[in-house]
Amino acid sequence: MSNDPIPSESRRLLRGPLLLGLTLLSASALFTSAAVRAADHSTAFDTNCSMCHQLGAAGVPGQFPRLAGRAGKIAAAAAGRNYLERVVLFGMIGGITVDGTSIVGGVMPSFASLSDQDLADALNYIVSLDNSGKLRWKGGVFKPADIAGARGGKPLSPSQVHQLRTPAVGTL
Ligand code: HEC
Repeated sequence: MSNDPIPSESRRLLRGPLLLGLTLLSASALFTSAAVRAADHSTAFDTNCSMCHQLGAAGVPGQFPRLAGRAGKIAAAAAGRNYLERVVLFGMIGGITVDGTSIVGGVMPSFASLSDQDLADALNYIVSLDNSGKLRWKGGVFKPADIAGARGGKPLSPSQVHQLRTPAVGTL
């Protein structure tokens, strides 16, 4: 007892800060995931889009295009951003090929009933995903005002949106 390098009294004193440290650590982990969740804009996508495009926008080959890892590349050019805004506002009909597999007879519904904020959130979410659906947040690409601008422009039919696709998407 007497040759114990750490007397029991000091050991008791040490335990306090250690437990406090662990508590703070787990509390900060909780805060971090809550903050990431709030900033990742996934709610609008999860609520309106994931039933077809799947969680993390992984897609279903031959039925619903994978958006993860593709939307960010499409949005790199202005034509691509214009296209993405119009796909969600006006919908799209017409065959497309994604990941080497054709989607025939697929219908992307119009989401004009959603707010500019929700559509900007859904688009910002998909452009921030890497190929495996992990969030690689780069900040907001789409502002609600961009959606409002597209909404106030020339209305397109779903097949007219399809005509915008090849120049905007190419083989992505
Ligand atoms: C009812 C199923 C369904 C829902 C819900 C849906 N989509 Fe789609 N989406 C599709 C289909 C099918 C296509 C392909 C349409 C085609 O082949 O012309 C598509 C195409 C797209 C494309 C174009 C992809 C490309 O390769 O050009 C984007 C972007 C997109 N959807 C985003 C969204 C977003 C964002 C939402 C939610 C606001 C959403 N979709 C909701 C079925 C859906």
